[in-house]
Amino acid sequence: MNHKVLYYSLLFLFSFSFLSIHFNCNTEPEKKEMTKEEMIQRGAYLVTIGGCNDCHTPKVFGPHGMMEDTTRILSGHPEDFVLPPINPDEIQPGKWYLGNAHLTAWVGPWGVSFAKNLTPDEPTGTGSWTEEIFIKSMREGKQMGFGRALLPPMPWFNVAKLTDEDLKSVFAYLQSLKPIRNQVPEPIPPDSIHKMK
Ligand code: HEC
Repeated sequence: MNHKVLYYSLLFLFSFSFLSIHFNCNTEPEKKEMTKEEMIQRGAYLVTIGGCNDCHTPKVFGPHGMMEDTTRILSGHPEDFVLPPINPDEIQPGKWYLGNAHLTAWVGPWGVSFAKNLTPDEPTGTGSWTEEIFIKSMREGKQMGFGRALLPPMPWFNVAKLTDEDLKSVFAYLQSLKPIRNQVPEPIPPDSIHKMK
């Protein structure tokens, strides 16, 4: 083999291996769309670590203290819960914020807010919601995405940081829950609290 032929063959081999390395590095593994089941599982995981049950699931007292009532997962503030009297002098800014025994109702300078029913019950929960309504509501902090501003302590501004894919997964999980009929009351404005004394 003369030198020229050897030279060109080596050049060919080098450029070939260089190109294949180059292309290998740049070909990202194709991102597969999650199946419905995978989305529900991811949503369950995000809801668990996102603390949504802390406020949206009623509680029972068990051997380990306060626990989630697993028969009423994410069904919101129980409609039949009678609020104890509230002393408006205790809830001025800088004083107390109050929570009820289920941690589903919250009293503060904003009045009384009640954690919503997130189960897919049509009249009382998220049964008629679309993915778009859910994402808009969490991103903008407005009821159903366009209504009044969401009240504390709903941490929508943290939930808003989730990617679209994660928010869709959370919604897929909520829609997979057992629908529970529970009409959560409307919030009570601050000036009505003194009537509850
Ligand atoms: C610290 C308590 C708290 C936590 C934690 C919490 N929420 Fe809420 N959430 C509330 C309250 C209270 C409301 C009702 C607010 C209102 O009436 O304006 C609410 C309302 C909502 C609504 C109704 C929004 C609308 O448009 O009407 C959705 C949906 C929701 N929360 C989802 C979630 C999800 C998902 C999580 C977990 C990532 C979560 N929440 C965690 C307290 C909480």
